[in-house]
Amino acid sequence: MKLGLALKSFLLGALAFDVSMARPRNTYTEVYRPQYHFSPKQNWMNDPNGLVYKDGIYHLYYQYNPGGDTWGAMSWGHATSRDLTHWTEHPVALTARGFPDNITEMFFSGTVVVDEDNTSGFGRRGKAPWVAMYTSYYRIDQTLPSGKQVRRDQQAQSIAYSLDQGMTWSTYDAANPIIHNPPPPYEDQSLEFRDPSVFWHQETRRWIAVISLAKMHKVLIYNSRDLKDWSFVSEFGPVNAVGGVWECPSIFPLAVDGGNSEKWVLMLGLNPGGPPGTVGSGTQYIVGDFNGTTFSADPESVHDGGAPDSSLIIEDFEGSDTLSDRGWTVTGDFIGASPAQGSLDGQNPVTGFLGEQLLNTFIDGDSTTGTLTSAPFDISHKYINFLVGGGSNVNETAIRLKVNNHIVHATAGTDNEQLSWHSWDVSAFQNQSAVIEIIDNATGGWGHINIDEISLSNTRARNGQANWLDWGPDFYAALSFNGLPQNQRTILAWMNNWQYGAVIPTDPWRSAMTIPRRLALKTIGQKTTLVQEPALNTKDITNGGKLSTFPRVDGVRSLGRLGKTLEINLTFSNRESSPTGTSQFGIAVRATDDYNKLTRIGYDFATQQVFIDRSNSGDVSFDATFASTYHAPLTPSSDGILSLRIFVDWSSVEVFGGEGEASITTQIFPSNDAVFGQLFSAGGETSNVRLRVKEVESTWR
Ligand SMILES: *[C@@H]1O[C@H](CO)[C@@H](O)[C@H](O)[C@H]1NC(C)=O
Ligand SMILES: *[C@@H]1O[C@H](CO)[C@@H](O)[C@H](O)[C@H]1NC(C)=O
Ligand SMILES: *[C@@H]1O[C@H](CO)[C@@H](O)[C@H](O)[C@H]1NC(C)=O
Ligand SMILES: *[C@@H]1O[C@H](CO)[C@@H](O)[C@H](O)[C@H]1NC(C)=O
Ligand SMILES: *[C@@H]1O[C@H](CO)[C@@H](O)[C@H](O)[C@H]1NC(C)=O
Ligand SMILES: *[C@@H]1O[C@H](CO)[C@@H](O)[C@H](O)[C@H]1NC(C)=O
Ligand SMILES: *[C@@H]1O[C@H](CO)[C@@H](O)[C@H](O)[C@H]1NC(C)=O
Repeated sequence: MKLGLALKSFLLGALAFDVSMARPRNTYTEVYRPQYHFSPKQNWMNDPNGLVYKDGIYHLYYQYNPGGDTWGAMSWGHATSRDLTHWTEHPVALTARGFPDNITEMFFSGTVVVDEDNTSGFGRRGKAPWVAMYTSYYRIDQTLPSGKQVRRDQQAQSIAYSLDQGMTWSTYDAANPIIHNPPPPYEDQSLEFRDPSVFWHQETRRWIAVISLAKMHKVLIYNSRDLKDWSFVSEFGPVNAVGGVWECPSIFPLAVDGGNSEKWVLMLGLNPGGPPGTVGSGTQYIVGDFNGTTFSADPESVHDGGAPDSSLIIEDFEGSDTLSDRGWTVTGDFIGASPAQGSLDGQNPVTGFLGEQLLNTFIDGDSTTGTLTSAPFDISHKYINFLVGGGSNVNETAIRLKVNNHIVHATAGTDNEQLSWHSWDVSAFQNQSAVIEIIDNATGGWGHINIDEISLSNTRARNGQANWLDWGPDFYAALSFNGLPQNQRTILAWMNNWQYGAVIPTDPWRSAMTIPRRLALKTIGQKTTLVQEPALNTKDITNGGKLSTFPRVDGVRSLGRLGKTLEINLTFSNRESSPTGTSQFGIAVRATDDYNKLTRIGYDFATQQVFIDRSNSGDVSFDATFASTYHAPLTPSSDGILSLRIFVDWSSVEVFGGEGEASITTQIFPSNDAVFGQLFSAGGETSNVRLRVKEVESTWR
């Protein structure tokens, strides 16, 4: 789940609930309606919740606003399937308390377990209870039926149980929330404490819950014997990608290469700060071990960034001197000021700085203004590296380099308290004298800047990387089903992005889930890698398809009418890349008959990346970042073959490259008549092309 902007728009729109929800007014044929992906009949959906398999039925709960088509009165919607392919939507399972006109509590993300042994004691008349653990989000200060007091905007963990196989639920009002506050020393994080994921751990005979401290980039691990009484046992993080809040964490074991050795995977959402080239949400994973209390990452799964060892430090803001005693010329509110000790900004911890101190211009809050100018120094190396965070307006909060009194570089933050590395190429100014100037001329919004570790080096500093589960923009809050055997670990993810989720041009619903994907760990290039295989059962909903082989393709080759719902397999030989220009091969789908609009899915031989290019895919007007191309690294197989599996629906494309180690998920909004396709080979000819295209039938009819 996410707050921030979504919450603000909800608060503004809170009085305008649409309660005409009783009767679906559509037949799943609206423009852009996914034909074989789950989407709610109407209204807003986000994270998958409570995925559980029991007695031949897959249950999908999901974050749902019964009152409108943007984020709002968060409740748990519900749908079931027997094959992960055809879905039936059911009445809302948990409706925001007080909906529609006096909401006091919302039901944020969480998970469901079947309590076979009745550890919770909720069972009755021989029926094993199902227990949902979720985050309660309280809209107002209140004293709950349990006698516990909660604050406005607080997030705490609660449970509910069902005695009818997950169809109706009772909240455990006698004791909710059963985890009232984050543990010490994190009590001040009670507004950012969410998304419990629960499972049974046989070795320790305990329930385990994994919960996010979103802004601290930590996951907290709890255990319990009865799902009611929980003990905090360990924490993990931050590692790897930390460019946004951490949400929806879960851990689970998988066999490595299908053998007897097992590793655990931590999977979690990040928003913003997704994969390179995307804006907004993403999903990363970390491979490691779990011993019943502690998750520990494998060193090879952690990618720390940092400054090169051979740096000459200009300023690290450590020690007790004031800024002017350290040689800075100060103006405005910086007169008399010292570097900051860690966080100055209460709810939003500043992270990513080095040592004990940094420069944080949030001195008297955002109202602080002034400039800091360093003593002159000689530019003796190729790069100046530094850590930067805070406000993003480069005219107001910035670090700048001045040579001969001219500004030659200026950099701001990204409206984020997380500092990240940035470097300036200063090779053009070798041996010249320069000064660094830090300005804060902003008094509101993100009216401060955070700086640390300014140094000269001949190497660029780099930010930590991440293991991305999917390299596209529309894959978030992935969750796996409880209740399946370990070798059938299957996930669904929200196929949307907080960057533009609320303005995608669909009506009367917003958002779909990805196709289900089965996970495995494979050793690829010596790295234990999470791979995904489509778990959609397309046998019953596809025709035989047609295999076409092309010994060689050069330039563009029309495929004529393909349709709007497709399952495509495309294999071809790797080749040398052309020394000039691009070297790509792929297929364009959802093209108009003049091929002016289309979505390209292909491989770039020079960069060894799979890509989806949706820059000209149809309606891209609703968000400035939507018209883009997304890339995932993919090495050709040892016999020099590249293979892509592609799933196209009325408003999405998912591609799986190689053995499933490179997946990209994107939404697209092409017009109804965009049904044509073509192959393209740029920068040379591509050989041994095999193409099988199947048209997928609608699962709604
Ligand atoms: C809203 O619900 C709360 C809690 O049930 C109650 O105390 C309050 O009176 C209600 N307000 C209105 C306007 O109905
Ligand atoms: C579950 O435990 C409760 C409390 O001990 C008990 O009343 C109930 O009969 C049990 N139900 C089942 C199905 O065992
Ligand atoms: C799990 O690992 C942690 C950290 O290494 C250790 O403190 C703890 O005792 C271990 N627990 C068990 C049950 O082995
Ligand atoms: C910064 O100032 C320049 C020049 O006045 C202007 O073109 C630019 O849009 C400004 N940038 C921002 C983020 O306000
Ligand atoms: C900068 O100064 C160093 C040491 O005096 C010298 O070796 C180098 O050639 C100079 N570089 C440039 C680009 O002038
Ligand atoms: C800060 O803003 C004021 C008003 O726009 C401007 O006059 C001043 O030059 C700015 N200061 C800096 C350091 O950019
Ligand atoms: C693509 O290949 C996979 C794996 O070999 C196979 O299961 C699937 O049916 C194929 N799909 C098409 C459209 O040929």
